[in-house]
Amino acid sequence: MKTTALITAFLAGNVAAFPNMDKMTAPLAARAYEEAQQLKKRAVDPPQGAGAMPLVPPPFDAKAQRISTTGAHKWVAPGPNDERGECPGLNALANHGYLPHNGKATITQYIDAVTSVYGMGVDLATFLATFGAVVDGNLLSWSVGGKPHTGIGGSHGNYEGDSSPLKGDLYQYGSIGKLVLSQFKELYDMQADAEQPNYNLDVLRDFRGKRFQESIDKNPKYVYGPFTGILVSQAAYTFIYRFMSNKSEEYPEGILDKNTLKSFMAISGSDDNPKWTFGHERIPDNWYKRNTADAYTIPYFNTDVLYFAETQPEILSVGCNQGKVDSFNAIDADTLSNGAYTANQAASNPVCFASEFAKAELPGLTGLGSVALAPLTKTLNGLTSGLNCASIGSVNTSALTACPGFSFYGGPNAKVAKGAIQS
Ligand code: HEM
Repeated sequence: MKTTALITAFLAGNVAAFPNMDKMTAPLAARAYEEAQQLKKRAVDPPQGAGAMPLVPPPFDAKAQRISTTGAHKWVAPGPNDERGECPGLNALANHGYLPHNGKATITQYIDAVTSVYGMGVDLATFLATFGAVVDGNLLSWSVGGKPHTGIGGSHGNYEGDSSPLKGDLYQYGSIGKLVLSQFKELYDMQADAEQPNYNLDVLRDFRGKRFQESIDKNPKYVYGPFTGILVSQAAYTFIYRFMSNKSEEYPEGILDKNTLKSFMAISGSDDNPKWTFGHERIPDNWYKRNTADAYTIPYFNTDVLYFAETQPEILSVGCNQGKVDSFNAIDADTLSNGAYTANQAASNPVCFASEFAKAELPGLTGLGSVALAPLTKTLNGLTSGLNCASIGSVNTSALTACPGFSFYGGPNAKVAKGAIQS
């Protein structure tokens, strides 16, 4: 099944489908400079956290940004044969018919859905969807749920990881897909007394720091990997505000209020008695996505990771617990990348380090040789070219195999680790 011919065929399809990719990943520095010139024009404080991008409000176009939740896109609960999993953004798309309702989709369907419904940049969407289909699917398609080698559900260690925002750690709760209400409450209550509740980047980076520490304190087999941790796990936090917030003329960057958060996270019930229903994520009515001119690209995401790291520098340190809670050992970037990245280089360009690590991991994950993988790595390289990343020739995963919780293709369920603390 996994042949060079197949890879070549699907890559040809994707590249042809997105000829404007370069335009959408225009250099961030030029944009930041232009925005800085206009900063003084800003009338209101930015709702996304002072200092975070963008420095000037993006455009807002109600007609173009309104997302339909009626007709063909009416919310329909998943049935017994529909797959749903850990990602609320993808589950919501499947529930509204923007992805196939059964939860299994092709790379192109994922890219179309996340760019058109949420305003994700084509570069980021292509990277996430392609990587998933290659490591967790049949090279062309994969599932938002599934099990090992069919979807996110079986990707613990190679795509899905620990210290997620609302879903429990695999060896702490025995499942990667279970929403832990105490984690939800912790986030929810961070805006309990706010005059205008908004789960923006400032709130989310504080919450991210708490969750990192909580995994150290409660999961004896906690692993924070280069790709699953630095990149995917960070995305799981920044995406909450960047994609789920509701954009408007007044707040073109968006406001993520309590009801919008609850709807996307499949939470119903009162503040005192919240209830989570598996797979019931929903796009609220009267909800507006990001403007196309403000697509959330890979360079944009990189600035958000650095923004998180300003106050939570630990999110850049790969490592793991040693089989007991509170036994976290950091693993050097130098060791993991066989000398390609020093710790400082990895910290100043975290998305480079993480994405290069992911690419260098591909032979080990797919069982394919470098010649067979060449077309794929070429495409992935093109997507991160805006960051000028130093490549990693080969990864040293033996440093990670010293972690008791490290393995690829774990989940969706596992035995709870001895000494795990649940709350
Ligand atoms: C093709 C695009 C996407 C892919 C491949 C993808 C994949 C994933 C994966 C693998 C995880 C597990 C991460 C972890 O272990 O923490 C995840 C979680 C998550 N994703 Fe996505 N995702 C995509 C798009 C989105 C979008 C558009 C949103 C927001 C609307 C989103 C929001 C989230 C959130 C909030 C979590 C964490 C869930 C929790 O802990 O409650 N994702 N996604």
